[in-house]
Amino acid sequence: MVVTPSSRGTHGSSLPLHGQVAFVTGSGRGLGRTIAEKLMSLGADIVLHDISEEAPARFGEVESLSALAKLLKAGGANTAAVTGDITDSAAVERMVMAAQEQLGPVSVLVNCAGGDIGADGNKPNPSTPTNFKLEDVHAVLNRNLIGTMLMSRAIAPGMMKREAGSIINVASILAHQGSAIEIGYACAKAAIAHYTRCLALELRTSGVRANVVSPGPAKTARFLATRTTDPAMLEDGPSLQRYAAPAEIADAVSFFAGPDSRYVSGQVMRIDGAAGLYAA
Ligand SMILES: NC(=O)c1ccc[n+]([C@@H]2O[C@H](COP(=O)([O-])OP(=O)(O)OC[C@H]3O[C@@H](n4cnc5c(N)ncnc54)[C@H](O)[C@@H]3O)[C@@H](O)[C@H]2O)c1
Repeated sequence: MVVTPSSRGTHGSSLPLHGQVAFVTGSGRGLGRTIAEKLMSLGADIVLHDISEEAPARFGEVESLSALAKLLKAGGANTAAVTGDITDSAAVERMVMAAQEQLGPVSVLVNCAGGDIGADGNKPNPSTPTNFKLEDVHAVLNRNLIGTMLMSRAIAPGMMKREAGSIINVASILAHQGSAIEIGYACAKAAIAHYTRCLALELRTSGVRANVVSPGPAKTARFLATRTTDPAMLEDGPSLQRYAAPAEIADAVSFFAGPDSRYVSGQVMRIDGAAGLYAA
């Protein structure tokens, strides 16, 4: 979605997420950015976040996090922008405090930051169940599972006190099927799904919800820049035998963020165009 000054229109108070504050980690680019723009279009105030001010520029999407914040503001959103590493608990506490000072209590948390990025900043290689570098597995677990846990620990208690809130954790279809490659990533994402079930149970009595969105391959700038893609799968069209558009993942997140899923918690939604059909 491209944000324009009319993205949110003048009837903000009738939108389903009006009055909500959504903190979307890793929203400087890629799926996180599309999710932030979707939640904004539904009326939420948005906390943009990335590991650094420059990270959103890495694959050419936008020049910086502040530049993206300006775009969203022009589209009518109340926006705060915070930077920091989600694997660092002090940074997480600092970012959450700064965000809440600017926009008020966070009521929607989307843990989207992550990816299959090893200790040296590149895709781990080797990365099979019996051939991996320990430092890569630690880096990938930190960036995905531990970051999700630290963000949830920082934000969920306030939601519980206020008896309102929704947490959406972004996993991957690799969380749900055996994989002989990307082993740290597959295990980290599977652990995110199980952490979310445990979290949903703890939050249950306060009415706060936690769910998982598990995307299949989605056409983000990073995805397109870092792998050989199948041209037939890149085409838009009626067939589901293609890569997802980022907006198709954001739509699922917005379902879990909003009132239509008010009695749904602890669940996983696989968004893969029926590429993997199996129980559980
Ligand atoms: N694009 C896909 O095909 C796909 C498929 C399944 C799951 N996912 C998941 O969706 C999420 C977004 O993926 P994407 O394709 O948009 O990738 P992306 O690399 O464009 O976005 C990831 C964002 O997270 C940030 N980030 C990474 N590590 C961080 C850290 N330690 N602290 C703070 N920020 C950090 C990055 O800077 C970036 O802004 C990831 O969790 C990824 O694993 C993506």
